Amino acid sequence: MSQFDSTVAVVTGAGSGIGQATAMAFAAEGASVVVADIDAEGGAETVSAIEAAGGAATFVEADVTDDDSVANMVETAVSEYGRLDFACNNAGIGGAQKPTADLSFDEWEQVIDVNLNGVWRSIKYEIPAMLESDGGVVVNMASILGKVGFENASAYVASKHGVVGLTKTAAQEYAQQGIRVNAVCPGFIDTPLLAAGGLDDPEARKGIEALHPMNRLGSVDEIASAVVWLCSDGASFTTGETLTVDGGYTSR
Ligand SMILES: NC(=O)c1ccc[n+]([C@@H]2O[C@H](COP(=O)([O-])OP(=O)(O)OC[C@H]3O[C@@H](n4cnc5c(N)ncnc54)[C@H](O)[C@@H]3O)[C@@H](O)[C@H]2O)c1
Repeated sequence: MSQFDSTVAVVTGAGSGIGQATAMAFAAEGASVVVADIDAEGGAETVSAIEAAGGAATFVEADVTDDDSVANMVETAVSEYGRLDFACNNAGIGGAQKPTADLSFDEWEQVIDVNLNGVWRSIKYEIPAMLESDGGVVVNMASILGKVGFENASAYVASKHGVVGLTKTAAQEYAQQGIRVNAVCPGFIDTPLLAAGGLDDPEARKGIEALHPMNRLGSVDEIASAVVWLCSDGASFTTGETLTVDGGYTSR
């Protein structure tokens, strides 16, 4: 018997990095997982890894900037597996790295649309499905940059602060209907997102590591386990929380 037997989880951005590890962690605990991503190749890789480990998963091509696509993602959970218990709204991008006034409107909007509007769009469809399943748990992937600023990343920082506010508010709204809504705030984690931001060259990486008192980056599994805990019965009185998993970064 595993703790999430007979449950169903959706993970956005599950074709890579933190989302992939989270989808695998849900499956390892017995949940059937809807693996959602714009990247079909990465999504197929996640499904294969889950199935190879004896779990159940389905890929759905879903773009969190597209309303119909997100609706279809949630419908897939219900049509394939009959219910929705857990959602990890994780899809995100880093965006352009420039001082605030140098960002174009499009650069600003792209990051906000994926990282903030995408989480709201996901919640919009997940909550009704969870209410049909007598409750559930939403975990939004924020960041330490939802708590503190970071130079040349104002759209990203604003989007993640927005996710934290959205999390707290939705938590209050659904607390009496059996739905908990929390966020995880990771420090810098070793994923392709860092490479996309040019932070994978050895010097830059050393500098980023040194920002964490543990003097290292986090691993995807260290974030996935926080998501699993927030969805577990052990977190039954935890809602509206932003769980920071950052090797001490924000304690400074
Ligand atoms: N890596 C870090 O240091 C770090 C730190 C804090 C928070 N986060 C957050 O964790 C989340 C996952 O990041 P990661 O590091 O695993 O990155 P990643 O690049 O490895 O994975 C992100 C995934 O999201 C998918 N994606 C991008 N745009 C999408 C869209 N419009 N619709 C659906 N899927 C989309 C990508 O295809 C990719 O598979 C993001 O929200 C990110 O902001 C990452």
